[in-house]
Amino acid sequence: MAVTMSARQLALKRREAWGIRALVMVDMSGSGGSGAATHEGPGPHGRCYRCAGTTRRMQAHAQHPNLWLVDHPLIQHKLSVLRERTTPSSDFRRLLGEIAGLMTYEVSRRFETEPIEIHTPMERMLARRLRCAPTLVPVLRAGLGMTDGILALFTEARVGHIGIRRDERTARPEEYYLRLPPDVQDGPVLVVDPMLATGGSAARAVDEVKRTGARDISVVCLVVVPEGLAAMQAAHPDVRVYAAALDRCLNERFFICPGLGDAGDRCFGT
Ligand code: PRP
Repeated sequence: MAVTMSARQLALKRREAWGIRALVMVDMSGSGGSGAATHEGPGPHGRCYRCAGTTRRMQAHAQHPNLWLVDHPLIQHKLSVLRERTTPSSDFRRLLGEIAGLMTYEVSRRFETEPIEIHTPMERMLARRLRCAPTLVPVLRAGLGMTDGILALFTEARVGHIGIRRDERTARPEEYYLRLPPDVQDGPVLVVDPMLATGGSAARAVDEVKRTGARDISVVCLVVVPEGLAAMQAAHPDVRVYAAALDRCLNERFFICPGLGDAGDRCFGT
């Protein structure tokens, strides 16, 4: 026998579906504590104003105020393959770019937009576009592996380069190259480097970018550790660190554990 639903029952069912969806979004924080959505309660149609029908909003990590974890399942999956020690350089490079591209979706959430009049095939409308393309600043060498993945989404982005290597004995950063676009301070700047270990390299890179007058700066990494986050918080509390994973700690040689090895070497087969 066919069961017919009244309009009221149908509406109730839809509301339930929204409720369930909002709950799922609120609970998407994951074990890494990446932060749940800001749930503002139902609006006039039984939906949460902020999260219903759109995406969740990120929040800073509960223990690290400068950390914004982007731990989407697809990113976690690709990161696991990338970490695996048998993964060859060609796959490592490809995955580095893919993960950076996927992270860009969240990293660019705060980018400003401005109105623009466009003509669809149907009519004229007021749409929005990004106000300013970002500047990417990869930290050489490993940061280069992330750059193409982000550039694929921001084709108009400018790219500056900063060469920093760690002294193998002291783990202190040594800068050997710097070339930034002249107007780097116009628009957001993304310093990209797969690893935040002691935090020395990222802090130095941000020092250089700030010297140009830029203030809207984020650091985009794959794996970070509490030691590096604390160093960044001390040196640049105004800078957000986006990462795909918060790892356990540094070992006695200042390598991230469990980490992914030396990203520069793995990326370029050295
Ligand atoms: C790695 C990594 C970061 C830095 C992180 O680079 O790519 O730049 O170490 O360490 P920190 O947070 O303690 O400064 P590395 O010095 O190995 O240079 P490479 O990319 O040329 O291999």
